[in-house]
Amino acid sequence: MTPLGDLSGRHVLVTGASSGIGRATAATAASLGARVTLSGRDGGRLSETLARLDGHGHRIAAFDLSDVDSIPGWVKLQAAEAGPIDGLAHCAGVQIGKPVRSVDQAFFDTILHANLLSALALARGLRQKGCHAERAALVLVSSVAAEIGQPGNVVYSAAKGGLVSATRGLAMEFLRDGIRVNCVAPAMVETEMMERFRQTTTVEQFEAIRAAHPMGFGKPEDVASAIAFLLSDAARWINGVTLPVDGGYLAK
Ligand SMILES: NC(=O)c1ccc[n+]([C@@H]2O[C@H](COP(=O)([O-])OP(=O)(O)OC[C@H]3O[C@@H](n4cnc5c(N)ncnc54)[C@H](OP(=O)(O)O)[C@@H]3O)[C@@H](O)[C@H]2O)c1
Repeated sequence: MTPLGDLSGRHVLVTGASSGIGRATAATAASLGARVTLSGRDGGRLSETLARLDGHGHRIAAFDLSDVDSIPGWVKLQAAEAGPIDGLAHCAGVQIGKPVRSVDQAFFDTILHANLLSALALARGLRQKGCHAERAALVLVSSVAAEIGQPGNVVYSAAKGGLVSATRGLAMEFLRDGIRVNCVAPAMVETEMMERFRQTTTVEQFEAIRAAHPMGFGKPEDVASAIAFLLSDAARWINGVTLPVDGGYLAK
């Protein structure tokens, strides 16, 4: 009997694999037997991820997702080089806090491209003929920020909310293509993104945020497990959902 969550022999493409949640997702997928294509912009940090992976057949495909128009062609290239994609985990993202009164086009572009438009273009790329396996899965990474009002985080929250809507729509649009589409919504996770955020707060503000997490902050591996589950056949009847991975943050 196949172990629950097994990804043996599957080709899994992970964006954001040079850091944090993406790096942990790549490691988890590899430990479950996947051949992982690691993507991010920083080749040196992708090599560090590669060195940590169990198993064989992994590869690096550095790419800047802000070039949205080039994404479908890039996905096609990955499938041509490493075989049709069984799972795509889109873990790349950028969070920068800024009140709406001081945002401009360049800020919109940075946040929306990295978080939302890249996801839509990756979905478009995955759906192309020959790019995905007969049964494939796409997992997007939203945030609890999509569900709560946070001053100074409106553009990021809007991008992450867009991912929740896109997950439902894509799940229905891709039914006939055999591609399931799901999403995870983490609360605060101990990554470099959190460290950068910590530097924008006072100690008191940051401790108040910690106190709002009933089970403390998450580890990247906590989110990676949920992503790997959604990529696997164990989730074959789960489609169009956003799973909070938040240690009870939204339940309180
Ligand atoms: N950490 C949290 O508390 C938290 C909470 C909720 C949701 N999330 C979401 O979880 C996801 C992962 O976050 P994280 O905490 O792991 O962040 P992180 O440690 O800062 O890593 C972000 C990753 O995104 C990649 N990336 C950013 N812009 C890119 C671009 N234009 N093209 C290609 N890759 C790009 C980075 O690659 P390079 O550095 O190589 O460019 C890096 O691998 C994000 O979507 C984030 O919004 C995080």
